[in-house]
Amino acid sequence: MAIPRITVIISGRGSNLAALLAAERTGRLAGSVAAVISNRADAAGLGIAAAYGVATTVVDHATHASREAFESALAATVDASAPDLVVLAGFLRILGDAFVRRYEGRLLNIHPSLLPAYPGLHTHRRALADGVRIHGCTVHFVTPDLDHGPIVAQGAVAVEDDDDETTLAARVLAIEHRVLPGAVRAYCQGRLVIEGRRVRVKDGPPTTRTLEVPPIAG
Ligand code: GRF
Repeated sequence: MAIPRITVIISGRGSNLAALLAAERTGRLAGSVAAVISNRADAAGLGIAAAYGVATTVVDHATHASREAFESALAATVDASAPDLVVLAGFLRILGDAFVRRYEGRLLNIHPSLLPAYPGLHTHRRALADGVRIHGCTVHFVTPDLDHGPIVAQGAVAVEDDDDETTLAARVLAIEHRVLPGAVRAYCQGRLVIEGRRVRVKDGPPTTRTLEVPPIAG
């Protein structure tokens, strides 16, 4: 069977992209990152892709007259890479229905909260303001309903008393780097079955959740 081709779309730092590439390099991805697309020319992730010898393309939203024009250019670039799976890894723009429908069922996103809690922006700040004790990340299939698609994988971390937005974000990011490659691997192995709002992971060990919350002493 051909190795599934993965196209990753980014906007910035690219640490989740780096985690995918590292997993591929060590034989833990079951797929191959064939292309990286960024909507920003200054995205650090483009350098990471280049260091791994992966083709990169910039589709700059700012040079397109409308969201529709940007998204059709983005779709043309994605299609040119002939992906089996498209991963939004820190892509910081909201995608319209036409784009999402085009890739539905083969479009994953990583979001820095335990969805359905905290969709949207500033997830760590909002979690701290609410005083939650457990926070984390979610990999989900993308649907037109923002941050509400079927959940593939989640990772949880404890919120410490002295956490601020920076320390909490760092702890969640570390777990994102484990959860995303696990979810992508399960997809590439053909093990994810979408059943309505739920995703079943068939055959083999669950690679799609991780719990790193220590039990409360006493
Ligand atoms: C991550 O926290 C991801 O969950 C969110 O944007 C951030 C991207 O970080 N969607 P990076 O570019 O992968 O380092």
